[in-house]
Amino acid sequence: MLTSLRDHLTSPAIRTDGLSRQFGAVCALDGLSLEIPRGIIFGFLGPNGSGKTTTIRLLLGLLEATSGSAEVLGYDTRTDATAIRERSGALLEHCGLYERLNAADNLDLYGRFWQISRDHRRARIRELLSHLDLWERRDEMVAGWSRGMKQKLAIARALLHRPELVFLDEPTAGLDPIAAVTLRDDLSRLTAREGVTVFLTTHNLAEAERLCALVGVVHNGKLKVVAPPAQLNAMSETPRVEIIGAGLTEAMMEMLRAHRGVVSARADGRCLIIDLKHAADVSSVVAALVSLGYHLETVRNSAGSLEDVFHSLVEAQR
Ligand SMILES: Nc1ncnc2c1ncn2[C@@H]1O[C@H](COP(=O)(O)OP(=O)(O)O)[C@@H](O)[C@H]1O
Ligand SMILES: [Mg+2]
Repeated sequence: MLTSLRDHLTSPAIRTDGLSRQFGAVCALDGLSLEIPRGIIFGFLGPNGSGKTTTIRLLLGLLEATSGSAEVLGYDTRTDATAIRERSGALLEHCGLYERLNAADNLDLYGRFWQISRDHRRARIRELLSHLDLWERRDEMVAGWSRGMKQKLAIARALLHRPELVFLDEPTAGLDPIAAVTLRDDLSRLTAREGVTVFLTTHNLAEAERLCALVGVVHNGKLKVVAPPAQLNAMSETPRVEIIGAGLTEAMMEMLRAHRGVVSARADGRCLIIDLKHAADVSSVVAALVSLGYHLETVRNSAGSLEDVFHSLVEAQR
């Protein structure tokens, strides 16, 4: 008994071996073998229909594997799904909130479900809502809330019973860019504070890059690569330069986008980020900018984007 308890505590958060799921002729997940250590945010990144939600459902024991196996927190999904679900939180496609209840009552109801004592429930609800800047609004009915606020509350709900692991299925999908950034910041702060392992799915590269210590790229049910985002960046072959200066105009952006050496260009504050076809194209790009009146300060090489790698991994399969 003691040995097995120790095994559970020292096991990786998630370990899968050839995990597969077929739906009729569709192979939603094809031989996933993966090990995710505890205490990190893992990003499962892939376009729509690549098998992300199926994977979460398999890991929670909500769906049976066609072949292969998985252990979550040291428990087998086939035989110990209840133990897994007691120790995990989940935010799936449907946020699971009661629209006609206020925020605090939504969490309270959930806390009762987990049989958390009244005092602990109160303290925990206050703690989570405060950290998400929702405490002042706890008495408002959820129906009137923005999608971003509802997602935050749904995350609080998933964390309420202090799970060791939390599954977040596309937590920022459908949010406007500002709400998405806020939610990401809250997520990284809160999960670090709670020391919880996070399995997060996303089709958003920037999100994976920003939040995750480890990213797995999945496409058509197949795992393409698992690596820290920085390492994925280094796999990029597209030369990228960052140009810092002043006086950027819309005409300059148009010139860049039309330039034959430029793959893509975007401005981020005073920084211009340009992906080039060839590293040698940098001089003609800079010259063209300056001739249009740009005040150049610095040009530096930068790693290519995760986006390039993602595309090359996905393209390679086509
Ligand atoms: N219950 C189901 N019945 C039939 N096909 C399904 C079912 N669930 C998922 N699929 C199919 O499996 C593939 C992967 O789906 P899913 O895991 O939802 O992808 P993602 O979450 O990455 O968008 C898709 O082709 C989808 O249509
Ligand atoms: Mg999905």
